[in-house]
Parts: sequence; structure tokens; C-alpha cells
Amino acid sequence: MIVGPAVHKSAIQFHYDTLTLFYRLFWGRHVHHGFWADGVPTPPMEAAQERLIDLLVSQASIHSGEEVLDVGCGMGGSSLELARRGCRVVGVTLSPVQQAWATMSAKLHGLGSRARFRCADAERLTLPPASIDVMWNVECSEHLHDKPAFFHNVGRWLRPGGRVALCAWLAGDGTRVIPGAYEVCDAFLCPSLGTAADYQQWMADAGLEPVTFLDLTRQVEATWEVCQRRVDRIGGGWLSRILGRETAKFTTSFMTLLDGYRNGSMRYGLFVSRKPG
Ligand SMILES: C[S@@+](CC[C@H](N)C(=O)[O-])C[C@H]1O[C@@H](n2cnc3c(N)ncnc32)[C@H](O)[C@@H]1O
Repeated sequence: MIVGPAVHKSAIQFHYDTLTLFYRLFWGRHVHHGFWADGVPTPPMEAAQERLIDLLVSQASIHSGEEVLDVGCGMGGSSLELARRGCRVVGVTLSPVQQAWATMSAKLHGLGSRARFRCADAERLTLPPASIDVMWNVECSEHLHDKPAFFHNVGRWLRPGGRVALCAWLAGDGTRVIPGAYEVCDAFLCPSLGTAADYQQWMADAGLEPVTFLDLTRQVEATWEVCQRRVDRIGGGWLSRILGRETAKFTTSFMTLLDGYRNGSMRYGLFVSRKPG
């Protein structure tokens, strides 16, 4: 695991409160990587993001009627997609702006009864034991401070047969030099980045058995080329001027991330694990 600089939750909340409109205009309704099976960034980003969702849904065998906790739900992109497929979803985000946004979107799409949103810290959530079928987590676990403790809670919240469906930015396997990974933690507000082995161990320690691990690095890395092109097109400097360099510093780190994926110091993983029973 790589440990980054100290990150306060208030900074994470501020980031998403301030930048949700930017993310919506710039990225679309999902705040996560796109998936291109051959690594070439066609079709466009938004369709590629939907494909990542499709892949995770199918790998985790999520079906209509299941109760899903979407941890780090952003603007509700995944939650609404799961609600559309007949799941009952509760999305949790640190950002009140995202919570309001997601709630409004659910109403506008007629999904308000199946997708609800809470503004809460997932590391302080209390849920009854065995109360959910799926813990969905797309690119939120990077922000969590105590990842093993979080998975321990998830192990209790899941019903027997329930699954973890998770996509995460990962540290490389630890045998390589890690240039830039600390910088990535700093720019993208990650207190730490686990390796694939760390995630597998945390889930095993929480009593969850492995179902799938896919290294999708080659299939998602083009995301950052697309982002860099978009920022270059609109001129990223104005964002720093409006929001301040600190808030917008992630926009200058896209290439650091891409380099990390290419030199093996970072990976991108999809995990499914299951509570026995
Ligand atoms: C990169 S975005 C991913 C959003 C969403 N999963 C998606 O794919 O569109 C990270 C999300 O994690 C949320 N987050 C970060 N730390 C959190 C915490 N401790 N508790 C709840 N949500 C958190 C942020 O508010 C944000 O919504």
C-alpha cells in the first residue's frame, strides 16, 4: 500500500461540492474511468463509462430486486443505472451537493422510489447486520482512510450470498519503483492506495471469498488521454484561476496517472467478492 499525504474529509467534501458541475459538464453523469475493450478510446467517454458499469453488473451477477448500497455514489450515475435494472439502491456521498444532484436526477428519471441518497461518511455508517445484497463501490475506496475497517463493516452488512462489486485505482504490486504515485494521492485526495493483493487480503479478512479480479489497466488508461485533450481544448488555466490552484490541481496530474499506469506503478482493478452462505 502507498500512503499519501494526510487528507481531511472536509477537503474531499469541498472538492466534490465545488467541482460537481465541472464534472457533469466535463465528464458526464459518471465520475469514473471509461472501459474500452481494445484500449482505443472509441466509442466516446460516456458510452465507455456505461460499459464499465455493465461489466461490473455482470461480473457481480446483480439482478432485479436486490438491495444495493452505492458507496461514494457521486451524482448517482451508477445508482440510477442499477435502479433502472430493478434494484433498490441507497447511495451515500460525502458531498451534500452530490446528494441533492442525485436526488433530483432520480426524481427527473422517475426512479425516486427505487434510488435514495444520503449525505454521510461511509466510514461512520451504521447499518443493521445482513441488510444489503450488494455493496457497490466505484472509485470511492481510494478516498477511505481505514480501508480494512470499512471492509470489515461491509462483511457484516452483507447478507449471506451478498457481494462486493468494486472498481479501484491501485498501487502497483510493490516490486516496482513508484514514481508519481504519491503525487497522484496528493492531487486526487487519496490518503492511501492499496495494491490488488491488499484489497484481496482486506476482503478475505472480512470473511468474503474472492469471485473475480480483473486487471483492467490497459482497458481504462485511455481515460486520461481523453481528459487531457478536453482540458487542453478548453484551456485548463481558467479553472485554476476560478477555483484556485489547490482545488484544480488534479487537472494538471492526468499525465502523471497515465504514466503510472504505463510504467506499472499503478493499476486499475475490478473486484467481486462474496459472503459465503
Ligand atoms: C470519484 S467519485 C466516484 C463517484 C461514483 N461512484 C461514480 O462512479 O460516478 C468519488 C465519490 O466518493 C465519495 N466519497 C469519498 N469519500 C467518502 C466517504 N468517506 N463516504 C462517502 N462517500 C465518500 C465522494 O463524495 C464521491 O461521490
